[in-house]
Amino acid sequence: MNSHIFDIQPLHRFSGSNAAIRRPREIAYFSYDDEHNFRLDGSSLKYYYPPQSSQLPLDLSAGFDTFQKLNDAPDEHLDALLDTIVALEQNTEKKCEADIVTWRGMMTKIMTAPFDMLNGFEMNATYFQGTIFIEENNSYKNAQKEIQRNQRMPPGMPSQDMMAYWGYKFEAVSVLSNTWGETSREKIEGRIHEVVNNKAQYCSVVRTGFGKAKLVIGGEVDAIWDCKPVRKEDPINWVELKTTAELFNDKEKLKYERKLLKFWAQSFLLGVPKIVVGFRDRDGMLLRLEELETQGLPGKVKREGRGSWDGNICINFTAAFLEWLQTVINTEGTWRIRKREKSPVIEVFKIEESGHGDILSSNFVKWRTRQ
Ligand code: A3P
Ligand code: MG
Ligand code: MG
Repeated sequence: MNSHIFDIQPLHRFSGSNAAIRRPREIAYFSYDDEHNFRLDGSSLKYYYPPQSSQLPLDLSAGFDTFQKLNDAPDEHLDALLDTIVALEQNTEKKCEADIVTWRGMMTKIMTAPFDMLNGFEMNATYFQGTIFIEENNSYKNAQKEIQRNQRMPPGMPSQDMMAYWGYKFEAVSVLSNTWGETSREKIEGRIHEVVNNKAQYCSVVRTGFGKAKLVIGGEVDAIWDCKPVRKEDPINWVELKTTAELFNDKEKLKYERKLLKFWAQSFLLGVPKIVVGFRDRDGMLLRLEELETQGLPGKVKREGRGSWDGNICINFTAAFLEWLQTVINTEGTWRIRKREKSPVIEVFKIEESGHGDILSSNFVKWRTRQ
């Protein structure tokens, strides 16, 4: 097996001035509805409207027993993203050119790798018509989830499922399905009693770039601050919602700073300018909200924190890695992109000599190879 290795360490190779980056621009979008059915529209767009301070503390565990939870075990590959690209190309009568097409989640893993030695990842990739398509290796993801699920929790701690529910409940009580003006008071106040359903999503498809690499990435956005701008080229005031435990000691503060790296990278990639953090206590009571500006986060961590990560290095690392990746994945077949847990390198190797595995949908290939 011929394995290509990209060294993450030493990091000083990636410091210095920033590689060119492009501001992400939304070029298309799609939704999943309450049943997780794909829709080529913005029907699942949500409007940010936080719970009022009079409603705090708010019990994020409420309704856990009626949670409509998405089964995320099945492999969805890149299907929804590719369907959206096909529709875009049909509308514009132009090929959607890109060096790399992938989900935002894959790019987050790559971007944070310089400061996340501990975690591993596995992705599948294929080369088709000048573009590298990257998906998550779903069996690796499921195996990791199983390991997490079987981890013993200290007695008295809420279950992993409960803690994940708090995140979705926070979203549910912080957004509206229509603008504030279109929503009745009863509806707004009734939010805290509504069934939580995480099957619906609005996904933004953006064009962005790192160094020489042009990317098209798709990812979920939680809500919009106001409404979509009239001029399509203007930035969109997206809001990313996150929950986290209230911080008491230095250990917890460092843990939070490390979480901020993920928040920042995830939001940076889609051009989400604002992150709203809901602080909760150990029992899942929502206590207070804090607004963070994505753009200012790396500076804030350097100034006020322990400097456990550096956004500049993440950007330069990503630009260098993607440029290298394009020199490796440029022939037919399928490839694995892997970082093992605690490893300082990313390995890339071929797993199938020909074809595109299941990475590309037949719908997409049929469209792109039409006569
Ligand atoms: P929190 O981030 O508030 O914990 P996102 O923040 O990306 O929009 O995801 C929404 C919620 O999905 C998260 O809320 C969390 O509850 C859950 N979630 C996301 N990624 C997860 C993961 N890898 N494991 C468990 N839960 C996850
Ligand atoms: Mg989300
Ligand atoms: Mg969120």
